[in-house]
Amino acid sequence: MNQQALKHISACVFDAYGTLFDVSSVARGAQDALGERWQALSELWRTKQLQYTWLRGLGGYHADFWQVTGDALDFAMGTLGIEDDALRARLMDLYLSIAAYPEVPAMLAELKSRGIKLAILSNGTPQMLAAAVANSGIAEYFDAVLSVEEVGVFKPHPSVYGMAPQRLMVNKEQICFLSSNGWDAFAAKAFGFRVLWCNRFGQMPERLPGTPDGEITDLAMLPARLAR
Ligand code: LAC
Repeated sequence: MNQQALKHISACVFDAYGTLFDVSSVARGAQDALGERWQALSELWRTKQLQYTWLRGLGGYHADFWQVTGDALDFAMGTLGIEDDALRARLMDLYLSIAAYPEVPAMLAELKSRGIKLAILSNGTPQMLAAAVANSGIAEYFDAVLSVEEVGVFKPHPSVYGMAPQRLMVNKEQICFLSSNGWDAFAAKAFGFRVLWCNRFGQMPERLPGTPDGEITDLAMLPARLAR
């Protein structure tokens, strides 16, 4: 992949879960109750959550991300033989105070100081996203926090990606989209954004249309990848 700085970027649009926010921090937050099962629960919960977004999209029976997240948690807890309503409630509550990756605030401040527009574009509900950005103290940086609930279908439907140029009033080629979810990065590129895949876990490239313009391993690397 090309590792040169991207030119003529006027907005950066971020995926939320996995990209700005560390999904594993949720189950890790209940490690005292889950013990060594926290990681297995975390992985199955996330895998099922994403599957349900795709399946609901294909089937034409959308439900919001809070519902899908709860359904996926029920599946994961059931699979691991955990029956505990209080723990379920606690894990869902922890989703609202999910931790941002440590490099995020300084990176946002740097881009903002350069006059780059900043937005989130996520499957999350407006309430989930508002809680997450408030909890991390990063709300002030964003020009827009866009939820798929505005279009009623999950990523990777093109109408989701289409919200960003419309709301930020910039062409899609002037948008640098960031996601740690490979499938999201590829879909955003296929839509027409410029894309840097924040490949935090060294995953293999997807075999899907839309090869990203470049790869970074954390978001601290982003400012240097945008030409001034
Ligand atoms: C999101 C999911 C893909 O935030 O993590 O949209």
